[in-house]
Amino acid sequence: MELKLNKIDAAVYEIIKEKKNINLDDLIISLNPLNEDSIRRSLEVLKREGLIDENIKVTKKYSLDKNGLLALKDGFIEELFCNYLADKKISISDLSKIEIPKIDKSEISLALGISKKKNLISIVDGIIFVDQDYLSKIAIEKNILEKINSNQSVLKEEIIDLLKRKDFIIEEEVLFKSYKLLEIVYYETIQDKELYLTPDQLKSGDYKNLDYKEFDVEVLPKPKEIGRIHPLRVVMNQIRDLYLEMGFKEMNGSYVQTSFWNMDAMFISQDHPARDSQDTFYLKESGSLPFDEKLLETISEIHKNGGDTGSIGYQYDWSEKLARSLVLRTHTTAVTFKTFHNLSLEEKETSKYFSIGKVFRNETIDSTHLPEFHQAEGFVIGKDLGLADLLGFIKEFFNKLGIKEIKFKPTYNPYTEPSVEAYCYLKKEKKWVEIINAGIFRPETVFPFQINNTVIAWGLGVERLAMLLYGCDSLKEIHGDEPNLDWLRTYVLPRREL
Ligand code: PHE
Repeated sequence: MELKLNKIDAAVYEIIKEKKNINLDDLIISLNPLNEDSIRRSLEVLKREGLIDENIKVTKKYSLDKNGLLALKDGFIEELFCNYLADKKISISDLSKIEIPKIDKSEISLALGISKKKNLISIVDGIIFVDQDYLSKIAIEKNILEKINSNQSVLKEEIIDLLKRKDFIIEEEVLFKSYKLLEIVYYETIQDKELYLTPDQLKSGDYKNLDYKEFDVEVLPKPKEIGRIHPLRVVMNQIRDLYLEMGFKEMNGSYVQTSFWNMDAMFISQDHPARDSQDTFYLKESGSLPFDEKLLETISEIHKNGGDTGSIGYQYDWSEKLARSLVLRTHTTAVTFKTFHNLSLEEKETSKYFSIGKVFRNETIDSTHLPEFHQAEGFVIGKDLGLADLLGFIKEFFNKLGIKEIKFKPTYNPYTEPSVEAYCYLKKEKKWVEIINAGIFRPETVFPFQINNTVIAWGLGVERLAMLLYGCDSLKEIHGDEPNLDWLRTYVLPRREL
């Protein structure tokens, strides 16, 4: 049977027939103004008919990143380092005292390390000697940077070491598609078939007489690179939806808080280790305390001797000055206590609130810790609430997000009693991570706000939850300065239960 091709298929075929072999970009240019999607569709038809063959080559494309560009302009830091030291006899111990032009003080030891590794220097009795040949050793790599910068091709082997250096070279994959003629055949050109079934054709009945194009649903369209919501924001939106569905109201607060709202109001003692600047970021300035003499006095009494709460307090004189010092909030519980202060009488009997926001702690970064992260905090005030309600709530909350495996462990907080932590299992890391800290607020914390009913409350780590939901190994995958762009383009958040 004679082959039938529509006009576009035929146009594409004719070009390939003429050129014998052509790459996709040139093909698109030759067929201008035909749109790329139609050309891709035709290529699929021609492939299926066995008229052409597709060849895909993956190549790497390199370009200079910020440090690479800087090295090209000013010189590598090891080069600047050797230039400076070449005619001097400087000892290792003096390095910390000298200024080297264009090298930041914090990078001098890095420059020393690289120079040593590349054998540009030798150290005899603590004195640094620069190799006579150091410039020609560096010239090889400089040459490569120049090549990359002027779009000449380089081999991966040549740049292995440069690729390892931070922010030197950007490596991208490019797909190179080309098409080869397999067979010359005769064909009949037919009218383009209808692409879409329209409501008008349906109404008029015309569709019965029209010839529609068959679609190959297995052919993938060209992926579109469009902006997406950040995966962490997606998780926060999901948490917000869940809270709102459960009837919670949202509360918000600022990042900078007085120690009063971040700590004192919730009965964290003024000498508690968490107040240490090792854990908390302090600002130079101080803030002001609420204009509520009674509140301040009650809290002061409670810290001192427990006031009327039945507690004996911490047995010290509470300092207003310490309470005024400003901090970057270390937990969203600061927002919870400000909200307590503003609740209506009715809400002090029964209410439900949540807050999602950023908090700051002076932490060392690792796969599960960041100095800036997000918490999703909540509380419920009610009459007959107890620990079982709290545990039940937490289980239900995670269940709805699709997390079934969860373990509880008793813990200590200065402001809750009892207190509990919940852990979830990270499958890839094969370890349990703490994901929520919770408890029932102690009388010392709620008494000053005239809350007489029980308050169950919790604070949840959003980044860790996101790691679990997306199955990531490390927080670095989710945010930070080394994002995995492929993942950011393709991530999917598992659907939660409704
Ligand atoms: N503030 C706690 C934290 O940062 C969380 C928490 C909030 C615990 C409320 C109990 C009650 O981990």
